[in-house]
Amino acid sequence: MDVRNTPVSIENADLLSAYEGALVSFQTFVGEPVSQLNKILAEEPEFMAAHLFRAIAFYLSSEQRFLAPAQDSVANAEALLDTANEREQMLFHAVRHLVGGRWEVAGRALDAVLQAYPRDVLALQTGHLLDFFRGDAQNLRNRPARVLPDWSPDTPGYSYVLGMYAFGLEECNQYAQAEEVARQALAIQPVDPWSVHAVTHVMEMMGRSQEGIRFLQEREADWAGDNGFAYHNWWHLCLLYLEQEEDQRVLEIYDQSIVGGGEITLALLDATALLWRLKLLGLDVGDRFKPLADLWAAKLDAEAGYYAFNDFHAALAFCAVNDGARIESLAEHLRHYAGADNPANVEMSQAVGLPLVQGVQAYGAGRFADAAQLFGQVRDVAHRFGGSHAQRDIINLTLLGSAKKAGQDTLVRYLMNERQMLKPSGVLGLRVLQAA
Ligand SMILES: [Fe+2]
Repeated sequence: MDVRNTPVSIENADLLSAYEGALVSFQTFVGEPVSQLNKILAEEPEFMAAHLFRAIAFYLSSEQRFLAPAQDSVANAEALLDTANEREQMLFHAVRHLVGGRWEVAGRALDAVLQAYPRDVLALQTGHLLDFFRGDAQNLRNRPARVLPDWSPDTPGYSYVLGMYAFGLEECNQYAQAEEVARQALAIQPVDPWSVHAVTHVMEMMGRSQEGIRFLQEREADWAGDNGFAYHNWWHLCLLYLEQEEDQRVLEIYDQSIVGGGEITLALLDATALLWRLKLLGLDVGDRFKPLADLWAAKLDAEAGYYAFNDFHAALAFCAVNDGARIESLAEHLRHYAGADNPANVEMSQAVGLPLVQGVQAYGAGRFADAAQLFGQVRDVAHRFGGSHAQRDIINLTLLGSAKKAGQDTLVRYLMNERQMLKPSGVLGLRVLQAA
């Protein structure tokens, strides 16, 4: 049994404690689970859950280059199925579907694990991240809700489950409750970038930008250090500064704390998404787009069509450097993309990724009415390619800019009505209109 009474089929206390450390890294982004798991597996190659965990950690990077090692780990786990306990067998089933790109099945299989073992942190964290990648707001909230009553403040790692629940509440627009639960989590464990992030989202969505900036500044030591999620919280801080029209500060943070992570796709996404907002606001970003477009180009040689959310952001970077040829080649790839080994992404690409890439293509070519049509077509189903409301606002802002440039004044008014009703203090929409 592990520290939460979840059955594991090894008994070596030192290895279990090391495994526990890898789980905390997985939940907090502080430290890196794969290297810890490699050490554990070198000592105990028959540690089934460690193989599954390794597969998950690689796979959820959402980068094709890590698919092969994820598949290797699944194969290593499969060889141990006969001696695995029931929980590990169920988890294996879920992970096999996950790495096979069958995300809906994987999501349900993880629920089956959690139904039987509600304190299985690995299944819970995996399910939560999968719900994020699927843009499944309901389950971002409801999956942690289905297990929380089986946890107590005394269960190791309780605060991280509160943090997941808080983020899910936020994505379901229950801001007051989200903030309360996230602050409860942070009172127990302040070094929790995910719970910090949940509060930050609340500040973003409610237009409490000054308060959000203060919140992040006061807790900088807890979220901004050496962890794999820091650049995303810096990105959020930049969004809050943009609302305050402190544009110079945004560029400073971008240069100091965001662009450096660009080798990692998740960081490259944030860097691209931030610069694109600045571009929509008519700000001079110098030659900052060029290295991002180069990184995307290098990645997409192998990664195009691997995850629609990434493809869209790559297209934005190509558009910003006027590389129409690369956008066309990406669009062409997606038009024929069948992705037999990645069915979840086929659906996302068809419904969201391809039309958005085509929308960016139209925007870059100055066909703003076409761009508005494509962005408008997708925006209400865009959650299906993952990300948060705050991240996907880039679609609304680009639609707004396109509509303005196309002279579609009634559409502009219609969209601005929505923005002003939902976040009366928000200025980004107005700033995009002024720039367009
Ligand atoms: Fe976020």
